[in-house]
Amino acid sequence: MSLTVKYMGLTLRNPLIVGSCGLTGNLKNIREYAEMGAGAVVLKSVFEEQIRMETEQFLKSDHEKLKEWTATFDAIVSGAPHAWDEAEAYIANFAKEHTLKDYLEFVREARQTVDIPVIASIHCVSKYDWTYFARRIQEAGADALELNIYVLPSDFNSEGVQNEQVYFDILKEVKKHLAIPVALKIGSYFSGLAFTLKKLSEAGADALVLFNKPYNPDIDIHKLALTASDIYSGENQYQKSLRWIASLSGVVSCDLAASTGILNAETAIKQLLAGADAFQIASALYKHGAEIIPQILGGIESWMAEKNFSSVADFKGMLGKSKIEHPVAYDRVQFMKHYAKIE
Ligand SMILES: Cc1cc2nc3c(=O)[nH]c(=O)nc-3n(C[C@H](O)[C@H](O)[C@H](O)COP(=O)(O)O)c2cc1C
Repeated sequence: MSLTVKYMGLTLRNPLIVGSCGLTGNLKNIREYAEMGAGAVVLKSVFEEQIRMETEQFLKSDHEKLKEWTATFDAIVSGAPHAWDEAEAYIANFAKEHTLKDYLEFVREARQTVDIPVIASIHCVSKYDWTYFARRIQEAGADALELNIYVLPSDFNSEGVQNEQVYFDILKEVKKHLAIPVALKIGSYFSGLAFTLKKLSEAGADALVLFNKPYNPDIDIHKLALTASDIYSGENQYQKSLRWIASLSGVVSCDLAASTGILNAETAIKQLLAGADAFQIASALYKHGAEIIPQILGGIESWMAEKNFSSVADFKGMLGKSKIEHPVAYDRVQFMKHYAKIE
């Protein structure tokens, strides 16, 4: 029996990928996940916004130095009207480079620590920086790159099509400069989800990761204040991803990884049956530790043995929308008695 799968052209010994999260931000955990049998690991994202914040802090804290440098700059380029701006941009770039250096070092070390594919992850908000970061990460030895893009459609002045264009612009720019495969990890806030995801696959995404789970604010009714919601996924949160993996499998021209709410072998098997090429776990590791990896893999193997499947290819996508007799079942959204089996 073999659990080996292909994902974005990479050979994975099994479809279980440790998703990007705080736990994949250190080498000790990454080594443990590889030892426990994970097929691949996605490193903790580097956040452009964080780099920007650190850069601003650096600029504030070293304002005197900045003034000093600007004076020198002014002296050299005497009379130049934008001397201050240039000096500031120079220092901002220096700070950015400095912060990014740590992440690149982490990618290099992770690559050397484990022999499973290491997928780096970046979350940036501007076109220029995505490209810049991506190229440096490739040079650092990442086997693939996951672009973690989440445009929350909360701007009253931005139409759906404008929000969606951001994904295409970033993908196009990054793909132009990279040789390693690129996955897009996204949320589900798209006005025409099926249409847009198909277009993104045609625009060069090597895989779509469905879906990233946003951090959601909550309200504390006793303190009458905003609070953080539970960040870990619950038992039934896999269902949205399941519907869309099933709907897109066999239609999009890229691989699919299921994410959110995969807490056990049963859920993982469902996603594979729906058509996922691989699946990612994060909350399961926070809740149960690295032991969950062999438990999920063992559960998949036992089920395969019971069903007489000898490889993942034997059943992958078997219950995808394009394979079943009544595909409309994946399009039902109303709780009609006939389908929900309840009044
Ligand atoms: C504490 C925490 C930190 C996370 N950090 C990242 C991150 O840096 N980058 C990213 O793409 N996803 C991040 N995620 C999202 C997870 O990778 C995953 O998509 C999400 O938690 C849903 O999967 P799950 O149900 O298995 O947890 C994070 C999740 C958690 C719980």
